[in-house]
Amino acid sequence: MKTAIYPGSFDPITNGHLDIIKRASELFDRVIVAVIKNPSKKSQFSLADRVEMIKKCVPGVIVESFDGLLVEYARQKGAKTIVRGLRAVSDFDYEFQMALTNRKMAPTIETIFLMTDYRYSYLSSSFVKQIAALGGDVSELVPAPVAKKLKKRGE
Ligand code: COA
Repeated sequence: MKTAIYPGSFDPITNGHLDIIKRASELFDRVIVAVIKNPSKKSQFSLADRVEMIKKCVPGVIVESFDGLLVEYARQKGAKTIVRGLRAVSDFDYEFQMALTNRKMAPTIETIFLMTDYRYSYLSSSFVKQIAALGGDVSELVPAPVAKKLKKRGE
């Protein structure tokens, strides 16, 4: 059974993340979406909310939370692959650094990158939150349950 971990803060999940999850699911027997408990940046949504929104958007996919080192979590899950999305050249430095650091700690765990769909190459969770907070329409950027939640917050 080939397991891959797709980690992130998902604050909140966007259509760009969904696209990566769907495509990774075609490549692996099992994809675990792993939501980091305490992201280094301050999250707007609680861990429970972030997990719940993903579960609503991708029924059938395993969604869990994790704390501590990603490679340790991957080991516990028997996953040999970490999946990350690449949007633009600007993502590269950070992702490269993270992938090499993870490989140093866990040489048997490989990070693979899926190029984001061109429709989402500019998309980020921060922009989505900003647009929603200012009353903009995010319905084409995030799945319906997330748009609903963001709208509720703004009311
Ligand atoms: N579509 C849309 N947005 C995307 C995207 C895509 N395909 N891919 C990335 N993004 C955006 C996210 O929306 C997010 O935007 P934001 O900054 O506005 O919130 C940003 O890119 C990056 O977020 P994310 O992919 O969630 O990654 P992260 O940097 O928040 O989290 C972890 C990275 C969780 C994988 C990393 O911090 C980690 O592994 N931590 C555990 C501790 C550890 O092991 N440390 C050692 C690692 S070197």
